[in-house]
Amino acid sequence: MSNPTVGSGVNPAELLDRQYRDSKKLEARANLHRRYGRSDEPDWFVWIAQQANLPEGAKVLDIGCGPGWLWEAGKAGFPSELDLTLADFSAGMVEAAVEAANAAGHYARVEGVVADVSLLPFADASFDAVLACHMLYHVPDASLALKELRRVLRPGGIVAVTTNAEGNMAPLYALGAAAFGGAPSDPAADIFGLNRAKALMEALFDEVVMTSVAGDLNVTSAEDLVLALTSFPPGQDADDAAVAHLYELTKAAMVAGGGAIHIPKVSGMVRGLAPR
Ligand SMILES: C[S@@+](CC[C@H](N)C(=O)[O-])C[C@H]1O[C@@H](n2cnc3c(N)ncnc32)[C@H](O)[C@@H]1O
Repeated sequence: MSNPTVGSGVNPAELLDRQYRDSKKLEARANLHRRYGRSDEPDWFVWIAQQANLPEGAKVLDIGCGPGWLWEAGKAGFPSELDLTLADFSAGMVEAAVEAANAAGHYARVEGVVADVSLLPFADASFDAVLACHMLYHVPDASLALKELRRVLRPGGIVAVTTNAEGNMAPLYALGAAAFGGAPSDPAADIFGLNRAKALMEALFDEVVMTSVAGDLNVTSAEDLVLALTSFPPGQDADDAAVAHLYELTKAAMVAGGGAIHIPKVSGMVRGLAPR
């Protein structure tokens, strides 16, 4: 399960430049989930695909597609013959996503578009389904962005939004706050947590349903945890002394935990239908 987080108050140009020019920082956070999740947990991307429950042959927009991991790692959960438009405000992400989706060899058509979720360059009612996975906590006005998703959906079309639950990965963020200051909580969930996503979507869509999946990380490498916590603000701007402090705190927490830091996590999806 990915857990990408960025603090609030970041302007879009800085967000693009410092976070998402390419997938390196996202990779540092995803690495924790890949290496330290339980082996019996469902694959996050297959889970998204199953929950989204897209019809065969649908015309689909994935906005904030990132490097397209969903379309490669999740392909077992998607019907074949989807017509994909992979969009992101980072050209580097769009390029990577198109490559990943083509490599999957599972889709009828794959197109990449550089686009901002708040002002989509698509006609009204042009998609059967729109996905916005772990990205609406980046926008200044999530409700406005959701209205854009509704505008480009045909009546009855599917909207599926993923994000982190409030309280997600608390021990990780407590360590970050102890070293760098700031809130001891997941900034993505603070801004656009699952419950808020559901409330906003209930105002705009029909048949809104929230589902979630819980998991656990048992992180045994202080280096990997430090890399994740320095991949977004405030850790990405921390000086050497603060990073060394985080490293010491992490090592101490690991010793106290018998060699691992246990981090419970919860993320999920809110799915709905555009009004008919
Ligand atoms: C945390 S990543 C999620 C990537 C992918 N959806 C996933 O779940 O793996 C957030 C993505 O949203 C993109 N993004 C952020 N703000 C955006 C905006 N206003 N419009 C379009 N894309 C945006 C970023 O460039 C990044 O690729």
